[in-house]
Formats: sequence, C-alpha cells, structure tokens
Amino acid sequence: MTIFAPSLLSADFARIAEQIASVEAAGAEYLHLDVMDGRFVPNITWGPKIIGDLRKLSPLVFDAHLMIVEPERYVDDFREAGCDRITFHIEATPHAQRLLTHLRDIGAKAGLAICPQTPVEMLQDVIEDCDTVLVMSVNPGFGGQRFIPHALDKVREARALIDRRNPECLIEVDGGAGEENARDLVDAGADVLVMGSALFGTPDPGAELRRIRALLA
Ligand code: DX5
Ligand code: ZN
Repeated sequence: MTIFAPSLLSADFARIAEQIASVEAAGAEYLHLDVMDGRFVPNITWGPKIIGDLRKLSPLVFDAHLMIVEPERYVDDFREAGCDRITFHIEATPHAQRLLTHLRDIGAKAGLAICPQTPVEMLQDVIEDCDTVLVMSVNPGFGGQRFIPHALDKVREARALIDRRNPECLIEVDGGAGEENARDLVDAGADVLVMGSALFGTPDPGAELRRIRALLA
C-alpha cells in the first residue's frame, strides 16, 4: 500500500496541532519534515528544537528530509529530536556511504535523496546502504512547485535498481505530487508520496488525503 507523507512545509504553523491531527486521523503514515539551511537550498525552515516539540504531538513516523550542507554534522541531533527516518542529499556530502552507515548505527532508517539533475546511477554503489531513496521531482527549496515529468523515468530506473539489489528499500517521491500524478508515480514504482501543498493548501488536509488515497485504490 502506498505510504503518504504529508509535508509540514505547507502547513499553517499557527494551527500545527490541528493540522497534524487532521492528516493523522486520515491515516497518514509519515510526517515529512523539510529541514532547510539557506545554503544547500535558498530557504530556511526549522531545526531539531522544533522537531522535538512536534514529536510530542504525534506518534507518526517522523521522516526528516535534510536539505542542508554537511548533514553529517547534524544527524545525531535530528535523531535525538525523534526523527525515525533521516534522508540527506547525495549532492551535500562527499561521504554518503559513511553517513548512511552511521544513520543505521544510531537507529534511524537511512535515506539518500537526489536532485533533478542527479542521475539514478549515482546510487548504484550505495544502494545496499539505503532504506530510502528519495527522488526529487522539483528543485528542492519550496513547496507548491510544478512537477518535473522526467522524475517518472527516474522512479522507474530506481525501481529496477532496487528490485535487483535491495528490495526492502523504499522509493519516495517529493515535489509537485498530487491527484494528477499520484497514480502514475505509484505505477512507476513509488512507495512513498510526499505531499505538501496538495494537502495543506486545502481547508481540510485529512479529507484531501483520504480522497487522493481513494483514487489509488
Ligand atoms: C521541497 C520539499 C518538499 C515540499 C513539497 O523542497 O522537499 O517536501 O514540501 O511540497 P509540494 O508537495 O507542495 O511540492
Ligand atoms: Zn521534502
């Protein structure tokens, strides 16, 4: 079954408890937490303190997406804050294999993300070390951007690699996902759909999640 990962980037933080409760009641499996540093991407969000506070609000799987340079400096803090799955960018560190191994050592699920310009082949030599491969379907940094259709080919390619080498690994797609492309993404091999504006851009994110999930049934 497809895993839904609502992205809090587009949520209303003045009503965050209510917004989380809405997607939780609708059966969301993950909460996707976008960490941005203003260096790897041209935007800034939050760090471990805020995530630790959010942790008190929900038992859902906390799925951190680190869009930061030198992620190795901060992963322990995010793990301690309560992140269950931690994904960093292959473009942001020269030692991805070391960091993937470290994430597993500290009890997190280890995720590796690739930007739109990064080919799936870059994952070849580390795929056994990944619990998640995150294919960006927009350029990271902002919610509400338009889906880049070539991501579908990359999901298919990642599916083939993972089926061959590490079938347990999940494929997550992030950026511009919604009712228009959810079916295609799942057919291409996506396991986890991140959705920000598609859910939190509506008055009732939980109802929207239920509606989109029903379209996949
Ligand atoms: C973008 C983030 C996404 C973002 C997706 O850099 O990684 O998780 O929240 O937002 P939508 O679903 O609106 O494209
Ligand atoms: Zn994200």
